[in-house]
Amino acid sequence: MVNISKREEELPGATIAKFLKIAEERKDIISLGPGEPDFDAPKPIIEYAKKVFSKATHYSPSEGRQEFREAIVEKLKRENKIKCRPENIIATCGSQEAIFIALAATVDVAEEVIVPNPGFLAYIPCVELLSAFPIPLQLREEEEFDINFSRLHRLIGNKTKAIIINSPSNPLGNVIGRKTLEALADVVVEHDLIVFSDEAYEKFVYDDAKHVSIASLNGMFDYTVTFHSFSKSYAMPGFRIGYAAAPEKLIKAMTKIHPYITLAAPTISQMAATFALSLPKRHIQEMGREYDKRRKFIWKRLNEIGMPSVKPKGAFYTFNNIQEYGLSSAEFSEHMLKNAKVAMIPGTEFGLYGEGFIRCSYATALPKIEEAMKRLEAELEVLRSRPRRKNRLFARN
Ligand SMILES: Cc1ncc(COP(=O)(O)O)c(C=O)c1O
Repeated sequence: MVNISKREEELPGATIAKFLKIAEERKDIISLGPGEPDFDAPKPIIEYAKKVFSKATHYSPSEGRQEFREAIVEKLKRENKIKCRPENIIATCGSQEAIFIALAATVDVAEEVIVPNPGFLAYIPCVELLSAFPIPLQLREEEEFDINFSRLHRLIGNKTKAIIINSPSNPLGNVIGRKTLEALADVVVEHDLIVFSDEAYEKFVYDDAKHVSIASLNGMFDYTVTFHSFSKSYAMPGFRIGYAAAPEKLIKAMTKIHPYITLAAPTISQMAATFALSLPKRHIQEMGREYDKRRKFIWKRLNEIGMPSVKPKGAFYTFNNIQEYGLSSAEFSEHMLKNAKVAMIPGTEFGLYGEGFIRCSYATALPKIEEAMKRLEAELEVLRSRPRRKNRLFARN
C-alpha cells in the first residue's frame, strides 16, 4: 500500500481547482474564478515558436540560455529600472518555480518567512514544504490592504529570514506605492532580511498607480529576489516561463538546486519569451486596456449590488467584502455556485485573513461579466431577505 507523506497531507486542499473544474464542465456556470488571462498568447509569438521548434529539442543550461538572460537584463533596465548582469538572472518554469527555488536556497529549517495574508495561495505551502514557518502579515481592507508597519515590526524576531511582497497583488488588486516600498526597504536593511518581490502582474496597473520594483531602490538589489513571469504580461502561462533576478551568489545557489527540480526551463519557452520581449508593446497594452474596461465595470457593479471592494489598481482581481450576508467565504461561494451559477473563489483560499471576502477575476469576457452581475444581484436580494445568523466569523483578534 502506498503511504502518503504527512507533508502532502497537510497541504491545503485545492478548492480553486475544484471550483474551476466545475465551472469548466458546466456550461451554465459563469466563472469569475480564473487566475490566468482569457487571451491567447499574441499571434507573432505562436508563429515564432512554431518556426523555431525544431531547434529547441535540447536541454538549456540550468541558469537559462545566455540570449534569454541578456534580453532580461535589458528589459529590467528599461522597464524596471533594475541594473544587473546576466549572472544575476535565472530562467525558471514560471515564476512559481523561481519562488520555490529561491526559498530553498535561502531559508533553513524552522526559520520564519513573513507572508502577506490574504496573499497568493502558493506562499504558505512553499514555505511549509521547506520545513520553515510562514508568518502571516495581515493586510486589512480598512487600510486599503497596504502594509501596516507597526504590525510588521511585531512579527520580526531573531528567526525571521525573509518577507514576501506581491505587487500588483493576487488576490487583492492593490499596488504597493513607492513610499511604502521605501519604508519597507529601511526595515529590511535594519534587520538584514531578504525581500522576495513577486511582480507577476507588473504590466497590469491602472489609474494613477505605478509599478515600482523594490530592487530598483537605492542599494536594495543586494537584499532582493525579484520574480517575474511571462504568464500574465504576455498571456503565456502554458509555456511555463518566468525568471528571478538576484545577487549573483544567490543565483548561483538557485542554479545548483535547479537540476534537482526541473533541471532547466523549457528551451522553446525561453526562445519564445526572448522573442516576445522584442515585440512592440501594443500587444500588452491592448490586453491592459481590455482588463481596465472590465475592471471599471465590475468594480462599479459589484459595489452597486452589495459586494463592495477597495478600488483595484492592478492585476485582474477584485476582493469583495461579503460580511453583510452572515455566511463564511466558503459558504457564500458554494451558495452562489449553486444558486446564481457564478463561480468565485473564497477569500480563505488566500489565508486566514481572507475570511469574509470573495475574489472575483475579470480575466473573463465582458458580456459574461455583465450576465454574472445580473445573476449575483438577484441572488443577493434573496440572501438579504433571509433571516441572518449572528455573525461572529469576522471578529478581529
Ligand atoms: C501572484 C502570483 N505569483 C506567481 C504566480 C505563478 O505564475 P507563473 O508560475 O505562471 O509565472 C501566480 C499565478 O497565478 C500568481 O498569481
